[in-house]
Amino acid sequence: MSAGHAGQSGQVDPHKLWNESTRILEQTGVPSPQHDARAILEFVIGKPPYMWPDSISEDEAGRIQQLVSKRKQRIPLQHVLGRMWFLGMELKAQPGVFSVRPETEVLAEWAIQSLAKLQESKSSGKPETLRVLENSLGKADPLRVLDLCTGAGPLALSIARADWEVEVVAVELSDVAAQVAADNAKALGLPVKVVQADALVVVPEWVESYDLVVSNPPYVPPRELEPELEHDPAQALWGGGEDGLDFIRELLPVAYEYLKPGGWLGVEHDDTQGVATVELAREVGFVESYTLQDLNLRDRFLIARKA
Ligand SMILES: C[S@@+](CC[C@H](N)C(=O)[O-])C[C@H]1O[C@@H](n2cnc3c(N)ncnc32)[C@H](O)[C@@H]1O
Repeated sequence: MSAGHAGQSGQVDPHKLWNESTRILEQTGVPSPQHDARAILEFVIGKPPYMWPDSISEDEAGRIQQLVSKRKQRIPLQHVLGRMWFLGMELKAQPGVFSVRPETEVLAEWAIQSLAKLQESKSSGKPETLRVLENSLGKADPLRVLDLCTGAGPLALSIARADWEVEVVAVELSDVAAQVAADNAKALGLPVKVVQADALVVVPEWVESYDLVVSNPPYVPPRELEPELEHDPAQALWGGGEDGLDFIRELLPVAYEYLKPGGWLGVEHDDTQGVATVELAREVGFVESYTLQDLNLRDRFLIARKA
């Protein structure tokens, strides 16, 4: 990167640096060069573009150039910045932990809406005064949610943030990811219990205990990966088998065990797996199975209910 944008006093115009950084990222095939360059500048300057000063220091410019050159090597933006965002929450990101994806926000929103409906139907029979009293005495029976394969915790954390009584448990096999999920919960002040365990092994005490189970598990079928995905742990990606569905095949019966009758399941999957996952859910005994699409209208989530 040239120093051609340095001003007379050795200071640098951030808008020129943004343009130059965008060009560099574009040339190396980064999919959203302007966005990523802006995110890096925003991160270092600590302000959005409309608040940028006319000039920044050479130290700041040097830091930006370092981060741009990391991104140029196709290191994911989340690892370059050491943080990522999910439904407005800032989360810690680091190598060895799956980077959250925006499409998973659709599953989180579905879960939050489903819980709102469950909460409504639970409290509809009770007089308002009794509900207020129960809440103030901490005696309200909370809705219980399980997030299997939580990674850095985005689903569990966004659900725990909802403003009704909810108890959230998050299960993750990787000790590094489980620690990051726990760190994220602590930093956000959210009461999520993180359990480091294999989500495919049934915990007897949890059977028929949950109102809602969500999961964004490993599901990628065998195929060539775009460079950024190579930075996610293999354990987080590959679903196993020719169709990538081996993990989900094992997960569905486990989730079924954990749900209370009437409880709901939401599982993210590849856009080639919609029909197959609905069929798998039916075979396990779920009812009302259907496929939910992401914002690009791709089949991405299995939704099902335990009768
Ligand atoms: C696709 S990532 C999703 C992470 C997170 N739910 C999200 O949406 O960002 C899948 C996660 O499942 C975890 N995982 C893989 N096998 C597992 C198992 N048997 N039990 C629990 N977690 C597992 C991986 O370590 C990884 O964090």
